[in-house]
Amino acid sequence: MRSHSCGDLNESLIKDTVTLCGWVNRRRDHGGVIFIDFRDREGLAQIVFDPSVVEAFAIAERVRNEYVLRITGTIRRRPKGTENPDLPTGQVEVLGEQIEILNTAETPPFQLDEAHVSEEIRLRYRYIDLRRPEMLARLQLRAKVNRLLRHFLDEHGFLEIETPMLTKATPEGARDYLVPSRTHPGQFFALPQSPQLFKQLLMMSGMERYYQIVRCFRDEDLRADRQPEFTQLDIEMSFTDEKTIKNVMETMIRDLFKEIKGIDLPNPFPSISYQEAMRRYGTDKPDLRAPLELTDLGDIMVNVDFKVFSKPAKDPQGRVAALCVPNGKTLSRKQIDNYTDFVAIYGAKGLAYIKVNDITTGRKGLQSPILKFLSDDAIEGILERTKAYTGSLIFFGADKAKIVNEALGALRVKVCKDMKLIQKGWKPLWVVDFPMFEWDSKEKRWTSLHHPFTAPNVDNITDLETKPGEVLSRAYDMVLNGEEIGGGSIRIHNPDLQASVFKTLGISDESAREKFGFLLDALKYGCPPHGGLAFGLDRLMMLITGASSIRDVIAFPKTQSASCLLTAAPSEASAEQLRELHIRVRTQKT
Ligand code: AMO
Ligand code: AMP
Repeated sequence: MRSHSCGDLNESLIKDTVTLCGWVNRRRDHGGVIFIDFRDREGLAQIVFDPSVVEAFAIAERVRNEYVLRITGTIRRRPKGTENPDLPTGQVEVLGEQIEILNTAETPPFQLDEAHVSEEIRLRYRYIDLRRPEMLARLQLRAKVNRLLRHFLDEHGFLEIETPMLTKATPEGARDYLVPSRTHPGQFFALPQSPQLFKQLLMMSGMERYYQIVRCFRDEDLRADRQPEFTQLDIEMSFTDEKTIKNVMETMIRDLFKEIKGIDLPNPFPSISYQEAMRRYGTDKPDLRAPLELTDLGDIMVNVDFKVFSKPAKDPQGRVAALCVPNGKTLSRKQIDNYTDFVAIYGAKGLAYIKVNDITTGRKGLQSPILKFLSDDAIEGILERTKAYTGSLIFFGADKAKIVNEALGALRVKVCKDMKLIQKGWKPLWVVDFPMFEWDSKEKRWTSLHHPFTAPNVDNITDLETKPGEVLSRAYDMVLNGEEIGGGSIRIHNPDLQASVFKTLGISDESAREKFGFLLDALKYGCPPHGGLAFGLDRLMMLITGASSIRDVIAFPKTQSASCLLTAAPSEASAEQLRELHIRVRTQKT
């Protein structure tokens, strides 16, 4: 239907006749002449209709925004002074000769170039939203990233293999989406939270290197970087160790950034332990672009005459830490109050601080609501440890370590953003040496920090059951600019070790058999040592495109409450469907 795309037009085509298909981006009437900014996937072109071309002009007068047209005309240079240097096709225009209306369009609910359209409207009319050039560009880039990743993995001997969507639960820490079975009354499939068990089975099948760009389903509380269905680049390798896996994976990400952004990421990526990440940044996904770090003060605070500090300093699960902000003295009372409200979101009960007006005059040079509780020795210790100087402001967090880490960890990034301290560029890192288990104080049992198939870093199986809190795992996360973009581990390939991990997690033999019997069996029939990793592709794309939400890199995303505004899913099923699925619905008595 067309000879060229709008974006193809340039000066080399002057005097050529072209036929274009696309949408009316905008129609402008200019003293007898009609201009149409004509849009297709490849770009924008300006078409001019002169009244002397009677038939085409008459049609051009009738068209409205978003009409779908086929236009034939001759390319000419734009008159001097009317070129548009911002547009790749801005040196030329098409003198329209024929125009065919392929379809009309109602007035769209928003203009494509409208600045503030609510996300609700954008999601409801997603097919129009996706016509906006920035949305198109994101999806084009996403397709390119998929292509490059596939190419890399293919070159490195990975087989792309699909795994089932209708399956059994895979524990990744979220609730399952369940699908009722028609043929097995009262029974359900679970949609995969990840292909974890299948990719391990593929290693047991001798596939050696597997990958898949795959949808995963997790019914969990949603945030800007979480969707109920999201896409992983899922990878698994046999006969390998952490070093090789991490090396292949970071090479892939380095190649990707080089190709699409022309950026050289560090080689190798830096690596820090979970413990160190928590100590220095209060989080296991630190944004290394934020230059400030937390400082531990527990030992100094043990004996101070201020319970808020001394109690957590004495508590083995407590933490007292500081965030020293250079030039923080300029922060107003109001700003400090705002930060106090900010840390309260994470459960912090307050945000004590010391302003250092003059470092040379001891106590006199300091300004703080807690000064009266601190001895000269304690003050000296704090100033020295935090490397404070004249003009610094020191924030304090004191509570259970979890609260202090979350509060000061988030405050660290927020203050750096507010004070424009965030460095430009890309800061990847590996976080390693995670604890194998985490104590769930609500449920009073150990849970896996990664998933139950992750190998522990122990020589002796009995350590698992005797001191689970001390065992580290062979897991690793890849973090980029404060986002966890991927995570993985070396897996357990020994059935006894797997059984022992289930036992520590409080999963009975019976329950382990019922849930994972197929895996336990497969482990007995010649399982190679193996390990792998999965990237969150949506998160990676969010970072690469600079989008503020993963919804902006997904064609048809769900809302924060896990619904689709476009199709109005989820929706009720008919009584007939429910009957077939053996689901009885209790009707409410009114
Ligand atoms: P994990 O649970 O860490 O590991 O998931 C891997 C990566 O997937 C992304 N991700 C998400 N992205 C969007 N929305 C979500 N709800 C969501 N949840 C996770 C993150 C994360 O790093 N089977 C293991 C991998 C392995 O061990 O090989 C797994 O799924 O970027
Ligand atoms: P208060 O004695 O409760 O008035 O607290 C004195 C100062 O300590 C105030 O600046 C509070 O914001 C701060 N503060 C209180 N609890 C904590 C805490 N758990 N961590 C850090 N600062 C706190």
